[in-house]
Amino acid sequence: MSIKVTVTSADPRHSAADMVAVGVTAGSLRKGLSRDFLKAIGSSANKTVKRADFTGKTGQVLRVATGGSVKADSVVFVGLGDAVSLTYAGFRAAIAAAARAANGARCTSLAVAIPDDTGIENIEACAAEGAVLGGYRYEAFKTEEHRAKYPLERVTLLTGSKVNAGLRDMVDGGRRLAEAVCRARDLINCPPNELYPAALADYAKAVAKEHKADGLSCVVWGDKKLKDEGMLLLSAVGQGSVRGPRFIHMTYRPPGVKGELKKLCFVGKGLTFDTGGICIKPAPGMEDMKGDMGGAANIVALMAALAVTQPNVEVHGLIASAENMPDGNSYRPGDVFGSYEGKTVEIINTDAEGRLALADALAYGVKLEPEFMLCNATLTGACMVALGPTVSGYYATDDALAEKMRAAAKTAGESMWHMPLVESLREMLKSDWADLKHMGDRWGGSITAALFLREFVGDTPWVHVDIAGPSMSTKNYGIYTKGGTGHGVLTYLALIDDLIAADD
Ligand code: BES
Ligand code: MN
Ligand code: ZN
Repeated sequence: MSIKVTVTSADPRHSAADMVAVGVTAGSLRKGLSRDFLKAIGSSANKTVKRADFTGKTGQVLRVATGGSVKADSVVFVGLGDAVSLTYAGFRAAIAAAARAANGARCTSLAVAIPDDTGIENIEACAAEGAVLGGYRYEAFKTEEHRAKYPLERVTLLTGSKVNAGLRDMVDGGRRLAEAVCRARDLINCPPNELYPAALADYAKAVAKEHKADGLSCVVWGDKKLKDEGMLLLSAVGQGSVRGPRFIHMTYRPPGVKGELKKLCFVGKGLTFDTGGICIKPAPGMEDMKGDMGGAANIVALMAALAVTQPNVEVHGLIASAENMPDGNSYRPGDVFGSYEGKTVEIINTDAEGRLALADALAYGVKLEPEFMLCNATLTGACMVALGPTVSGYYATDDALAEKMRAAAKTAGESMWHMPLVESLREMLKSDWADLKHMGDRWGGSITAALFLREFVGDTPWVHVDIAGPSMSTKNYGIYTKGGTGHGVLTYLALIDDLIAADD
């Protein structure tokens, strides 16, 4: 089910939608659009607003019943924070909050009053993105009577700008971009009995097929092929499951563009379920390990988003997918395996499987000779210990790249923090029996995981994002909904924009 988004120039006070959303900057409740609304909805509703202490602070949401004073049943005021510091990402998150409020209040239609004095470029597209991201629901595995009876279905953007084909296309672009991001959420939320490596590969192929004319393609290596090609680490991680591993290579190249393009590579961890393997995890919370393919889900979503935005660049999306299970045929601590890169690796703990799967995908990526490579993964609990559940940690091979990441995350409105590749911890990865161990001790667990990955990227400029915390959420916040979030995709899109803009 997708949300229909349209744009028109009607007055918000006359909108026939179930709910009207009005953004309010800090302290300006009694100005502009919100003043018009306060005037129209009468004194009892005004009292509610006063009592609620609504000031327009970022994240504030207040729903007020209109009592028939205007056409819509309710108004939702959403805080935009300080007018001077309002950004594209900030406005998008506010509209997402409005869409969630609509869903919560069982409103099937929402009108969004677009303010005309924000200075935000393409603000209608921004609102469309926010509405789709915030209005997202996942009910694929609920039977009819357990589904929402009144889900948000229609969003109308009420704008002061001239409504023409160009504006409608822009709004549609925003909706389609957000829907691409929501593909990551669908994949993460899908139960692991339904989403196993081959199913993930089929999904990636289906996305590529759907967007063939937009420049997407996809090649999948099955169990035998990836082993024959030398992806022995990915193969080892998957060998304990009856549902074998897959290596997925998606490509985006704008159709009709001839000649050399800048080449970038994005890699994702696609563990469709992580029991820990022989070093099995404790049972409480293990169900969340269905989301251990969040990095891979982001890659599929990113590729789908590129098909929508059509940037002038060649992007490769690589996914290492497996299911980590305990079994008579599982890999074990003490095992030594070769790798696609060539180094041998001694296994210490079978629950540190993500870095093994990624290592082979990264080594494959190096062979494509991209100018830049990024991997993202729900890699370590240690990263969550360091940064909490809503912030991801990124590592970069140089400071200029780290700065680009910082700027991209800021543009996207996603919380990411630069982490150090502490060189002195590298010695923890020395092995007595192989070229390398895949992990160190407990201290600096997110850092040693990154240092291990670095062994497989050669000289390629590289960023690693540990999304273990924010890839899934236990609550709604910002543009995210409970469950899979797609955290990362918007940042990578902003980063790609920046990398293309630089030096040409
Ligand atoms: N998939 C987990 C990391 C994870 C934990 C993601 C919680 C999301 C939420 C990863 O494969 C893992 O098990 N990591 C271990 C590594 C350890 C054995 C070195 C961890 O973090 O405990
Ligand atoms: Mn694990
Ligand atoms: Zn894992």
